[in-house]
Amino acid sequence: MTAQLIDGKAIAAQVRAEVAARAAKRNAEGKPKPTLATVLVGDRADSAAYVSSKQKACAELGMGSLNQSLPADISQAELEKLIASLNADKSVHGILVQLPLPSHLNEERVLQLIGVEKDVDGFSPINIGRLAQRGREPLFVPCTPAGCVYLLDKSGVQIEGAHAVVLGRSNIVGMPAALLMMARNATVTVCHSRTQDLPALVKQADILIVAIGNAEFVRGDWIKPGAAVIDVGINSKPDATKKSGYRLVGDVNFDEAKEVAGCITPVPGGVGPMTIAMLMQNTLRAAEIQDA
Ligand code: GUN
Repeated sequence: MTAQLIDGKAIAAQVRAEVAARAAKRNAEGKPKPTLATVLVGDRADSAAYVSSKQKACAELGMGSLNQSLPADISQAELEKLIASLNADKSVHGILVQLPLPSHLNEERVLQLIGVEKDVDGFSPINIGRLAQRGREPLFVPCTPAGCVYLLDKSGVQIEGAHAVVLGRSNIVGMPAALLMMARNATVTVCHSRTQDLPALVKQADILIVAIGNAEFVRGDWIKPGAAVIDVGINSKPDATKKSGYRLVGDVNFDEAKEVAGCITPVPGGVGPMTIAMLMQNTLRAAEIQDA
């Protein structure tokens, strides 16, 4: 192993401790508890697990949460009514609609309804639009990409002037990660399923952010020696040596990449823990903004 391991679990724990301390100080000053409302539509097991981890984190950090679990066949109008009531509720500081929504619902219209000051996911068109434009400041930045940048900064990786290659262009990770890298003055290449000669482009990356949902897709010999590798993927891979019968792997072949990269996030324990830490930070900030 030549790469420095980026310990997302430890870095996320530091962020969470800072958020907990700030939340405790607020509570001691008699200010309202930063409170996150989560909206879960339908019964996808992965979405339910993510939402319950977010709620657990709120409790652990001395923040409030409330969950609205809605049936998969809820109408667009009913969902919109709920968002409007959460926008109006002064005891709610952040609103998170877990994605993906069932296909009959219009995600764009739902996200557009979330008040900018409560948009702790950073997915509303105003926050994303501000992220995309020079000289504008979004109130909130999407949590997983923000976690990627936080890990790079904590690891001493120079972003300005670096060539950042982002694999994946999803609204949740790839696209905002590319915008964030651009805002930090990196030169950015975004690759996706139709990109030609991917290995040659990856080889140019000083910073490689991978979010494509394809187990161990990026091979070690694609990576530029010394590059910073941020692996957002979480995939389960059959493994007979494990009691569960599987193990988690990223989108990067870790065993190969760790011999070439300068620093690299493991899976699990890399980017994963950062998403919730950033969400907690955003929720606290939402409460601070709404105090003013
Ligand atoms: N689904 C997968 N990741 C996320 C996320 O960060 N926020 C929301 N709202 N839904 C998601």
